[in-house]
Amino acid sequence: GTGPRAVLRDGVFLPFWSSCVCVAVSWLYLAKLSSVGSISEEETCEKLKGLIQRQVQMCKRNLEVMDSVRRGAQLAIEECQFQFRSRRWNCSTLDALPVFGKVVTQGTREAAFVYAISSAGVAFAVTRACSSGELDKLGNVLKEKFDGATEVEQSEIGSTKVLVPKNSQFKPHTDEDLVYLDSSPDFCDHDLKNGVLGTSGRQCNKTSKAIDGCELMCCGRGFHTDEVEVVERCSCKFHWCCFVKCKQCHRVVEMHTCR
Ligand SMILES: *[C@@H]1O[C@H](CO)[C@@H](O)[C@H](O)[C@H]1NC(C)=O
Ligand SMILES: *[C@@H]1O[C@H](CO)[C@@H](O)[C@H](O)[C@H]1NC(C)=O
Repeated sequence: GTGPRAVLRDGVFLPFWSSCVCVAVSWLYLAKLSSVGSISEEETCEKLKGLIQRQVQMCKRNLEVMDSVRRGAQLAIEECQFQFRSRRWNCSTLDALPVFGKVVTQGTREAAFVYAISSAGVAFAVTRACSSGELDKLGNVLKEKFDGATEVEQSEIGSTKVLVPKNSQFKPHTDEDLVYLDSSPDFCDHDLKNGVLGTSGRQCNKTSKAIDGCELMCCGRGFHTDEVEVVERCSCKFHWCCFVKCKQCHRVVEMHTCR
């Protein structure tokens, strides 16, 4: 491929091409630089690994917002992991670039989601316009768009390039929809080259028929069952005044993990 080509169009997000995904995803790398303290000097910008030259310049010119950009990147990753916690692709990050692996720099719907949520996370943190509860709401909306995303292909009308649904029976997408050009892998198997961790070792739900169920999550490979003891607070009593005293209860539950 020619690099990232995922497109998300929404009131807030402008249409974008290749380099934008790289840029958004590279800002996400800031979230992983826990050893770097506050970004308050131009020198720090030079030392941030993983930023392209253009970003180093942006960093230097916008020092006062860089800590917010980093916080936004963290929020975006947390939100993405929350939304995808019971999916095969669970938004886990790598300790290398690109942060979400190669699969998220291609034109997949995962790439479109990551782009959208990282733009939102950074915008929220920098403008402080919204609380993180609102990022959750946007996360839910984007997740719905992800599930309803349309596969598109490029077509030319006269000399203008446009994106049209690959399946002509689908109605044309609107500016509110999430669209993608490349179909995703199944995320079943470990494929480090593309940054795919695979689902071996993932927890699954034995009775669910959905993607969190062992059948789909484990891609038919089967699963292990372990009994694990969980400790919970129980028989809590309120004492005047003012504290709550609980007992500790031990309970054995079955836990299933993919082979
Ligand atoms: C995502 O799945 C991988 C295995 O595929 C696991 O190692 C990782 O802990 C999971 N991450 C999250 C955030 O659940
Ligand atoms: C497993 O899936 C079933 C059926 O969808 C659901 O009722 C149950 O709450 C799930 N269990 C867990 C631990 O999520």
